Amino acid sequence: MADAMSENSWSDSLQPLEFEKSVKDVADSSCLKAVPSKFNFTNESSAFTADALPVVDFSALSSGDPHQRSKAIDHLATTCQEWGFFILVNHGIPESLMNATLTAVKEFFYLPDSVKKQFEAKSVLDPIQCGNLKVTTASNQSFTLWRDYLKLCVHPQFHCPHQPYLLREAVMDYSERIRKLCRKLMEAICDAVELDQQYMDQVLEMDSTSQIFVGNYYPPCPQPDQAIGIPPHTDTGLFTFLINNGVVGLQIQHDGKWFDVHYPPNSILVNVDDHLEIFTNGRCKSLNHRAVVNKERERVSVAILNGPSFEAVVGPAAPLVEKDGRAMYNSMKYKDFLELKLTKSRLGDKSFLEKQRT
Ligand code: OGA
Ligand code: NI
Repeated sequence: MADAMSENSWSDSLQPLEFEKSVKDVADSSCLKAVPSKFNFTNESSAFTADALPVVDFSALSSGDPHQRSKAIDHLATTCQEWGFFILVNHGIPESLMNATLTAVKEFFYLPDSVKKQFEAKSVLDPIQCGNLKVTTASNQSFTLWRDYLKLCVHPQFHCPHQPYLLREAVMDYSERIRKLCRKLMEAICDAVELDQQYMDQVLEMDSTSQIFVGNYYPPCPQPDQAIGIPPHTDTGLFTFLINNGVVGLQIQHDGKWFDVHYPPNSILVNVDDHLEIFTNGRCKSLNHRAVVNKERERVSVAILNGPSFEAVVGPAAPLVEKDGRAMYNSMKYKDFLELKLTKSRLGDKSFLEKQRT
């Protein structure tokens, strides 16, 4: 049995996985009363309910009224610094498209294991991967996550299975709209920290940004305190956008405490990732978060991780380093960062981002 959950980060990972059987199939077996031992991870998943979580109104960010826009930008920057997380409203993505994406992803997970198995990952950077993940702790114990996943590289090249029938169209349309939103948020962050947008375009190679689409399926779990969906981790890119089927399960860490995330329908949960923290020389904070499971309801979520170009070498922005007197992080090619984080991280170790601090 693995240790009690550590507060340290583990990377959401493409680590070598096993796909003997989907977690969904394990959970579907009618007599399952206890979590099978390979999933066993004792954890304290209780969390606080925040009085109010930060909300960002996207329409104010793109307002034609300069005063309103500048107020909205200040609010976004403060939120990214203090929370690393916000609920995005008035974003303009149709609710029908978000629902279609969640439905198609759920249908994918309902396909027989024999079909899904063909997308089993062979290496950490495969453009299409599905299965479940085994996590190793710093003390060299392993356990499997109570979660099936589908991971697709959707930009700069688009990869997606051809079934179920509506998946490709929904993933393509939804990812493209998220890419545009992310671009606008990045422009607003540049304005807030007084960085030239052309500088950002050049350094992050924004014309060939990377985008990874992750579908998560968390079946009902007979003992939610004996298994975990995803242990604490930060995401690797710039901003991650998350939607789900209305079942609570995402928890975020703020001021050392864990909070459940409750959100209004049609909103998108957005978090700051490692490379936004690095690029802003620590002004924005990469959010530590986890996914817990529950006894009653299946949970489906879709996370889109928007990063710089895989080929971009990213470190703290030079004008900010000049202002601050020093670079707080090392620079590295984004693809190398991803690969190293995904293959080397151990649950309970110092996080990969912390290791990049100078
Ligand atoms: C992720 C993630 C949380 C969730 O996929 O990186 O943090 O609520 N997902 O599914
Ligand atoms: Ni995550």
